[in-house]
Amino acid sequence: MAIANLLLATLAGSAAATKLYITSYAPPNATVGAVTTLELSPGLGQGALKSVAANNECGSAPTWLDDTLGNDVIFCVDEGFQTPNASINTLKINADGSLKSIAKVDTIQGPVSTQFFNKNKALALAHYGGSAISTFTVSGKGTFTPLQNFTFVAKGPRPEQEASHVHEAIIDPTGQYLLFPDLGADVVRVYCIDPATSLIAAHDSLQSKPGYGPRHAVFRKTGGKTYLYVIHELGNKIIAYKVEYLESGGLGFKEVQEIGLYGSQETPAGTKAAEISVSPDHRFIVASNRNATVFSVDNPDPKNSTKIPSDSLVTFAPKNDGTLEFVQLAPSGGSFPRHFKFNKDGSLIAVGNQNTFTVDVFTRNVKSGKLGARVASALIGAPVTNIVWDE
Ligand SMILES: *[C@@H]1O[C@H](CO)[C@@H](O)[C@H](O)[C@H]1NC(C)=O
Ligand SMILES: *[C@@H]1O[C@H](CO)[C@@H](O)[C@H](O)[C@H]1NC(C)=O
Ligand SMILES: *[C@@H]1O[C@H](CO)[C@@H](O)[C@H](O)[C@H]1NC(C)=O
Ligand SMILES: *[C@@H]1O[C@H](CO)[C@@H](O)[C@H](O)[C@H]1NC(C)=O
Ligand SMILES: *[C@@H]1O[C@H](CO)[C@@H](O)[C@H](O)[C@H]1NC(C)=O
Repeated sequence: MAIANLLLATLAGSAAATKLYITSYAPPNATVGAVTTLELSPGLGQGALKSVAANNECGSAPTWLDDTLGNDVIFCVDEGFQTPNASINTLKINADGSLKSIAKVDTIQGPVSTQFFNKNKALALAHYGGSAISTFTVSGKGTFTPLQNFTFVAKGPRPEQEASHVHEAIIDPTGQYLLFPDLGADVVRVYCIDPATSLIAAHDSLQSKPGYGPRHAVFRKTGGKTYLYVIHELGNKIIAYKVEYLESGGLGFKEVQEIGLYGSQETPAGTKAAEISVSPDHRFIVASNRNATVFSVDNPDPKNSTKIPSDSLVTFAPKNDGTLEFVQLAPSGGSFPRHFKFNKDGSLIAVGNQNTFTVDVFTRNVKSGKLGARVASALIGAPVTNIVWDE
């Protein structure tokens, strides 16, 4: 046996499997969605990613997961398309990886993202369907009490912008501000946080370009400067902004670059950008492209030799002046990579392909930032929306 194989075999025998939690919407033949616990065995390869438990207590449209408060609870948001209310659900993680609901609170319609703030004493939700922002105070292990809500009336030039659609809640690196990209209104909303009360107050928004549809964003600090990278679902561009903390309060944004998501290739018609994330070592930015199958990959069913079309993930290297340099366009492993997550050391990336109902795991070279081979895949049987690694 070659030494590498011996090493893998030893690891497979001794090291524990890594768990991942994923959310999925109700599949076409069901009315409830799921939070599924997956185990990734350290040997990787065929059959290495397996479902070990499924929880159906997060309604019809589980859309986002958050494990900020620690290892034994995870929060799942139900977007609640089919019910009058949506909800945040507190799920206890049992020793065997199964989940059990221990609290639930109704919310305004259509939450799609959560962000804890003010030293985890409060939680903000972005409501896509409900055109709103809401906040909650947090007590104990995750009991939420409504604090504030803001509803917006807005419209943009594109058909998808018939109303305000708040798509994400993110916190700035100082913990003083919450930002909310609003896809329908072509703005990134900015709020400051009162540390004494957790109340938030609006400042001037970052104005996006008309019809661009800001969806998600990430901050990155370098050389004492702060940059914000906003991914636009409709414009299919990342815009990099230098962020200024204004003395009068609020944030200023200066555009430093606008860049496409396909490298030297033409941006395909119909594509829809989705997720953006900074690598654990802060050296790379990765984003996902949906509805433009520029690659083909092996079938998720190992018995089926027909290749399937694949969307893509794009990697950039940020420079000290905040601009991005294209590194690689790589397959996502299926269709509609709505979400993806790095493992702790950035050597693997797990992708949720919403329309092929799969979670696909790729190796990643932490030095070059490039994605490598697909090393595990699980057929979930439902539209995958979010992934959290338990490490
Ligand atoms: C839905 O269909 C899948 C196969 O596509 C099957 O595995 C699953 O059991 C079905 N679920 C229900 C509730 O019928
Ligand atoms: C739940 O839905 C009802 C009916 O639409 C609405 O009146 C109520 O405000 C909602 N509750 C929350 C917490 O949004
Ligand atoms: C939203 O806030 C208003 C007060 O501004 C309050 O009356 C209402 O109950 C809140 N709605 C929810 C769903 O918390
Ligand atoms: C996907 O792209 C095609 C064009 O290639 C477009 O007709 C279709 O509406 C797009 N689908 C979605 C869900 O955006
Ligand atoms: C194999 O995969 C292709 C592409 O997804 C699909 O159209 C076909 O029905 C599959 N064949 C079988 C026997 O499952």
